[in-house]
Amino acid sequence: MFLDTANITEIEAMLPFNWLTGVTTNPTLLAKEKGQTRANISREILSILGESQRLFIQATGVTQAELYEDAQTILSKDARIAIKIPADQNGFHVMTQLKQERPDVEILATAIFSVEQSYLAALAGCDWVAPYVNRMANQGLSASRIITDTVALFKQLGVSTKILGASFKNTAQITETLIAGAADVTIPADLVEVMMQNKLAADSIQTFNLHAKGGCK
Ligand code: G3P
Repeated sequence: MFLDTANITEIEAMLPFNWLTGVTTNPTLLAKEKGQTRANISREILSILGESQRLFIQATGVTQAELYEDAQTILSKDARIAIKIPADQNGFHVMTQLKQERPDVEILATAIFSVEQSYLAALAGCDWVAPYVNRMANQGLSASRIITDTVALFKQLGVSTKILGASFKNTAQITETLIAGAADVTIPADLVEVMMQNKLAADSIQTFNLHAKGGCK
C-alpha cells in the first residue's frame, strides 16, 4: 500500500503500522503544503521513510524537453525516488527515453483513464500505471472494467507492468480496484483512517472491554 499525500504528519502517523511500500505525491498534493518547496518536502519525506520505501514524485513540464529535464532533476536527488510521468504524448516520449537511458529507473505512468494509455505505457517499459479511479467515476467511466481489461491485456502481452490504483474518494473504490486485479493502491490518509474504523467492530470491542472490567451492559 502507498500513501497518496505530501503531508509529513500524515505519513508519520502511518509509518508505525509497517503497511507502507511508499508515498506518492503530485503537484496538487505538494501545493497543499503551503510555503514549502517540492525539494524541501521531498527531503523531509525521505528523511522519515525507510531504506526500501519509495517516494514517487511527478515530473512536470509543458514541453517534452521540460518534462525530461524535470524528471532528471527529480531523479538526481535520492535512489529511493521513483518518477511519475503523465501518460500523454510528451510523457510517452519521456518514458521511452528514460527507460532507454536508465533501465533501472522506476517509472509510473500517471493520469491513466483508458486501457489504451496503459497499453502504450507498458510498451514504453513503465513499471507501473496509475488509473484514476474516482476521476473516471466522475466521468461515468467504469474503473473496475478498465482495470480488469488492463490486467487481461498485460497478461496477454506478458509484460511486467503493474497497476497502482489511484484517485480514491471512498473505501469501496479501493477494494473494488484491488479485486479487479490492481497490484497495489495509493490511498489518501483519511481513507486509511476510515478503513481502520468499523462501527460494528467498535461496538463489539466496547462490550468486550466492559466485560473484561467485570461490568455489564
Ligand atoms: O495519485 C493520483 C491522485 O492523487 C489523484 O487523486 O483525488 O486528486 O483524483 P485525486
